[in-house]
Amino acid sequence: MDSVDLATKAVREDRLWQRHADMAKLGGTPRGGVNRQALSAEDAAARNLLMSWAKARGFAVSTDGIGNLFVRRAGTDPNAKPILSGSHMDSQPTGGRFDGMYGVLAAFEALEALEDAGVRTKRPVEAVAWTNEEGSRFQPGAMGSAVFAGQYDLQAMLEAKDWDGVVLKDALAQTLKAAPAPTRAPGNALDGYVEVHIEQGPRLENDRKTIGVVTGIQGSRRFIVTVLGEEAHAGTTPRAARKDAFVSAVAMATSMQAATRDAEDTLRFTIGRVEVYPGSPNTVPGRVTFTIDMRHPEIAALDHYESKLRDAVARHAAPCTATIERVTDVAPTVFHNEVVDLVRAAAQRLAFTNMDMPSGAGHDAMHIARLCPTGMVFVPCERGISHNEIENAKPQDLAAGTRVLVETLVRLANR
Ligand code: HGY
Ligand code: MN
Ligand code: MN
Repeated sequence: MDSVDLATKAVREDRLWQRHADMAKLGGTPRGGVNRQALSAEDAAARNLLMSWAKARGFAVSTDGIGNLFVRRAGTDPNAKPILSGSHMDSQPTGGRFDGMYGVLAAFEALEALEDAGVRTKRPVEAVAWTNEEGSRFQPGAMGSAVFAGQYDLQAMLEAKDWDGVVLKDALAQTLKAAPAPTRAPGNALDGYVEVHIEQGPRLENDRKTIGVVTGIQGSRRFIVTVLGEEAHAGTTPRAARKDAFVSAVAMATSMQAATRDAEDTLRFTIGRVEVYPGSPNTVPGRVTFTIDMRHPEIAALDHYESKLRDAVARHAAPCTATIERVTDVAPTVFHNEVVDLVRAAAQRLAFTNMDMPSGAGHDAMHIARLCPTGMVFVPCERGISHNEIENAKPQDLAAGTRVLVETLVRLANR
């Protein structure tokens, strides 16, 4: 039996499933999901737990300036650049037990399987938990991987504030205090990255496939619209005298919804958060802010629809004033054939049904792909549901994705 066989056979479905159950307790919600937002106490607890497992196996642990957490298994060539695998442990407020966490635990299971099988690799192999992938509490999302890949400036990200005004660097200090670890030597040279994730869509389940060979990720842009009106008394102010920020915001949102209804249903347009200030029943709103999340596989389409958004803001602001600020703009990502082919070949050799497919969801891999050969592995989730507490997956599928990951990592680490 060669080293790839030894390593893939050493993956333990029961251990992987139990680790998911252990992590799901941290930020667990009554409906069986998780609320483990970036740099929260629950996120710190998850980091602590992962670090305790790593130390028990003798793996080296480190963090970088934005709090990305690395667990390293040494290679035979100490000068070789590492191969990384991982995802994120932060969740949506009403998140599921598998989004992100599966990718971190699969990467950790890969290290354990290599260790249990006694398989050495030339390059070091590292499991990574990227900071703040969801971008729900602190914007922008995929922050840790973007800083690591040199896409976002570390100092600027440290100054980011959450919706309550908490500054990221203070939340980070709290988190890292809870889980002291040596800081990672600067530099992000690596020789490959593979991320496993639940699909967060229904295609694999509908097509009865176990493995998604991910070919790329669609482009995404996020905006914040701010509408400024004038607070006034709800009982005494006539309509003609009002500068009602909510009325203008609703007109904008309605116009945007109509302008983004493409016939092919390819564009994804979401207004996920709205804040009405001062939020009093008997005061005319003086300020409304709302977020926009827009996605499409082509840049030209994103440009086209962005201009529609800007038009809608300009046309419906009066008698208020309004601004629209683009806070993220991530170009469509095409994964490297070298890694995509390795993932497909591993799925075929391990006799898992598989299909090539793009990712509708964003992932840390979209930033790491700008650094090194990168690819992803999908496994099905029940009815494709995610960003929802009822998100679910099967232990055997999680193990299958992990076996494909292990084979891909060994081949990348020894090439
Ligand atoms: O929004 C996304 O696509 C990812 O799940 N955070
Ligand atoms: Mn995710
Ligand atoms: Mn997510």
